[in-house]
Amino acid sequence: MRQYTSEEIRSKYLDFFKSKNHQVIPNASVIPENDPTSLFTTAGMQPLVPYLLGEPHPQGKRVVNVQRCIRTGDIEEIGDDTHCTFFEMLGNWSLGDYFKKESIRWSWEFLTSEEWLHIPKERLFFTVFAGDQDVQRDEESYSLWLDLGVDAEHISFQSKEHNWWGPVGSTGPCGPDTEIFIDTGKEKCSESCDPSCDCGKYLEIWNNVFMEYYKNDKGEFTPLSQKNVDTGMGLERVLVALNGGTVYNTDLFEEILKKIHELSDQKDVKPTESKDFRIIADHIRTATFILGDPKGITPSNVDQGYVLRRLIRRAIRYSKLLNIEEGGIAQISQAVIEKYSSVYPELNENRDKIIQELNLEEQKFGKTIRQGLKEFEKVIKRLDEKTTVIDGASAFKLYDTYGFPIELTQELATEKGFTVDINEYQERFEEHRKKSQKGAEQKFKGGLADHTEETTRLHTATHLLHEALRRVLGDSVEQRGSNITSKRLRFDFSFGRKLLPEEISEVETIVNQAIKDDLTVVNQEMTLEEAKQQGAIGLFESKYGEIVKVYSIGEFSKEVCGGPHVKHTGELGTFKITKEESSSSGVRRIKAVLK
Ligand code: SER
Repeated sequence: MRQYTSEEIRSKYLDFFKSKNHQVIPNASVIPENDPTSLFTTAGMQPLVPYLLGEPHPQGKRVVNVQRCIRTGDIEEIGDDTHCTFFEMLGNWSLGDYFKKESIRWSWEFLTSEEWLHIPKERLFFTVFAGDQDVQRDEESYSLWLDLGVDAEHISFQSKEHNWWGPVGSTGPCGPDTEIFIDTGKEKCSESCDPSCDCGKYLEIWNNVFMEYYKNDKGEFTPLSQKNVDTGMGLERVLVALNGGTVYNTDLFEEILKKIHELSDQKDVKPTESKDFRIIADHIRTATFILGDPKGITPSNVDQGYVLRRLIRRAIRYSKLLNIEEGGIAQISQAVIEKYSSVYPELNENRDKIIQELNLEEQKFGKTIRQGLKEFEKVIKRLDEKTTVIDGASAFKLYDTYGFPIELTQELATEKGFTVDINEYQERFEEHRKKSQKGAEQKFKGGLADHTEETTRLHTATHLLHEALRRVLGDSVEQRGSNITSKRLRFDFSFGRKLLPEEISEVETIVNQAIKDDLTVVNQEMTLEEAKQQGAIGLFESKYGEIVKVYSIGEFSKEVCGGPHVKHTGELGTFKITKEESSSSGVRRIKAVLK
């Protein structure tokens, strides 16, 4: 059977949509910019939210790209044949241009025509939205698939749970979708097995979302000002559909798994088949992309840093099962960098940092384990002589306070003739998970994706702050990241030391003066070259491609940015810095409010 490579699919996809007059837009960072609705970029549409809501996109109404994404929904499930925490999403968009007819026809053409992927029609299955009290049944998509010659038996209507996409946070653009599945050839798990079943017979490869609604904070669906199409197809999964096997059989994992095999003492194991190998490969691939991002995320106990820490520690834990020595995960990461640097050059640029952080985290984890072992001994001593069961609360404390994985507690317990009350442990774990999920939802509620007045004002304030920092601290200051909620802005920038109190107050004075001057905010579109010539700042150039939007605030600041912004700085009120701290090595973080 002909085997396709990842490079081939990336370029075929882009070429196909270029032939349908789409402009290729470069892909954005895995750490969302100005978007507090999620920790990571989970879909290609996320950086496009302003344009789905009606802002004109500088590249026009038809755009296409390959977007690196991270989904951390349930990392405990990684290791099966088709789920990855990091993946690449092939996506095409209509920003208020074409709608269902073209979108469905082009998907069909790309998948089935001889010139493109040439997948046999009999292997493709489709789902469409069944309708509910909010939005009607999608008869149009159903008929469009039939018109193309799809057998009615291959199309099923599904509920909102299956055939509705978005919003990413609690509010934002969303809509009914039609999903495309490939029949993997496995047996049906039951009589009623269909594409909505997750037994593995049907693999979802492509999702076409008809984004014409906005879900507001009351939970209502209101029509957007324009009808959009947002599609997403998983690169790894398309390769599975074409080549057979699992995501771990694709060229994307080949060298990574080979490296793990080389470092491990499990020479008889087939790396693509082993759950331990798969987990290490998946987690280190994801960790490498997070660490390789210029935003400077490092392992920590909050937000993205926490997810990163979990991924690295879980990979280390599994690498120990394969007797991989200390320093091994950094070597595995080198294999990831080699594989991906031609497409994602920042991995190579940040190679030293990636390796250093992985090694550092491995050392820290080692220390944690040693402390945890001491605590484990104490737990055993505390137990009543008659019992051989370690209670769930103690096991959970080992996990929560000492970062001790439950599997390790169980193993140690077995060695000493004990067992762990796993049910009670799981209850505690669930309780904790629910609490932290609520916390996270609270934290990420609202924000720029909502385009509220507050977030728009804070966004403009961010530009003023950026310029003021450069005036006070020098031109070496560059934006490293930004995150805005309805209450405050957070701005990360390159600078090597703590700011002096007089520097902070000077920055505040400059920003407040710019507000008092009631400067006009204007935006123009130009090429990236022109923007640079005009001295526009803005670090995140690669996201924008050729034509960019430049926001000028009077003569004060000029920055490449997607918007939105206020019209006059006088709308901002009073600017106050509430915190200045270190974010990571060489990066400072400022939190500020408008009163
Ligand atoms: N946003 C949709 C998804 O993630 C289509 O790209 O499935």
